[in-house]
Amino acid sequence: MPAIRKNFSLKDHNSFGIDARTALYAAPENIEQLSDLFDHYDFKTQPYLVIGEGSNILFKDDFEGLVVNPGMRGVDLIEKKGEELLVRVGAAENWDQWVAHATQQGWFGLENLSLIPGSVGSAPVQNIGAYGVEFKDHFGWLEAWDLEQQKQVRLTGAQCRFGYRTSIFKAEYPGRYIITHVAFRLNKKPHLKLDYGPLKEALFSSRSPSPMELRKVIISIRQQKLPDPRDFGNAGSFFKNPLVARTIYESLKINFPEIPHFQDANGHFKIPAAWLIEKAGWKGKRIGNVGTWPKQPLVIVNYGGASGKEVVDFSERIRNVVEEKFGLLLEREVNVI
Ligand code: EPU
Repeated sequence: MPAIRKNFSLKDHNSFGIDARTALYAAPENIEQLSDLFDHYDFKTQPYLVIGEGSNILFKDDFEGLVVNPGMRGVDLIEKKGEELLVRVGAAENWDQWVAHATQQGWFGLENLSLIPGSVGSAPVQNIGAYGVEFKDHFGWLEAWDLEQQKQVRLTGAQCRFGYRTSIFKAEYPGRYIITHVAFRLNKKPHLKLDYGPLKEALFSSRSPSPMELRKVIISIRQQKLPDPRDFGNAGSFFKNPLVARTIYESLKINFPEIPHFQDANGHFKIPAAWLIEKAGWKGKRIGNVGTWPKQPLVIVNYGGASGKEVVDFSERIRNVVEEKFGLLLEREVNVI
């Protein structure tokens, strides 16, 4: 049975650094401890919330329920078939430490996802992605506790229904599963993805980097553009990049001929939210303790001591100005509790 802490501060458990409290908190380290928790807390009728390192969450208020932070650790190479590898990792492992370890071991595929904050168990929830690679590209399967069926399940990629920053864990069934382990499909031979615009520019002097060099370049791009949550609380991109139909893109182009866009696999046009926010005049804008990051306005930062409500109010003002200017409604990427 894991210790259940009472009136627990979540300040060190959310990358925005919001000083919210939860009535109860538990960090089960294995399946036995997790299932013991079900005897002591009624998940059917009482509020609960599953968090990892809290890097995609904004606490607007205190939480009147149980916060569960799965503490399963470990990295196990479980299958080798020619050049293909399957590695099972505990949900509580830190994402970037896992990527560093995989790259050092010569288990390739995750280099572009270097330095993304958070834990391994949270990565599938929003199908993290960066520089042309998404979590789902190297996904094998995952193990989770299914609170509906009250048993452990193994889910495939098709069952997880990964999309742009989404999955069943975020869309169809939030709260139903507690992810405990993730299995990754990696390769002993590097197949580097180097086509993402800003990455190409950064690599101009080294056209055929090693996976470790690529990891270093990704880290340096991120460090130049994105604030470190240890310095300024933030949860990465606050909004998703809106996906619009061609007709909408074309009508926007009449008034804003320079509007950037990327076409996705389904023929939708992805418009960078950072550009919309910048053109609406909100790049580097600060109100009190909250602001948009001067180098990447899609990131909202807590300059110190902000409440969750201040951050939410600030983000609503951004949504309003972007909607007024472009007629596009920004959808939050960050989970507001
Ligand atoms: N842009 C501006 N002004 C800026 C910055 C960017 O106009 O100040 C425009 C430019 O047109 C640029 C475009 O936005 O080409 C894209 O910018 P960037 O490459 O920085 O990426 P992004 O679309 O803003 C997404 C992810 C990031 C991920 C990067 C790199 C989302 C919501 N965000 O940001 O993910 O690191 O691509 O792949 O898709 C996160 O999810 O928390 C996150 C940081």
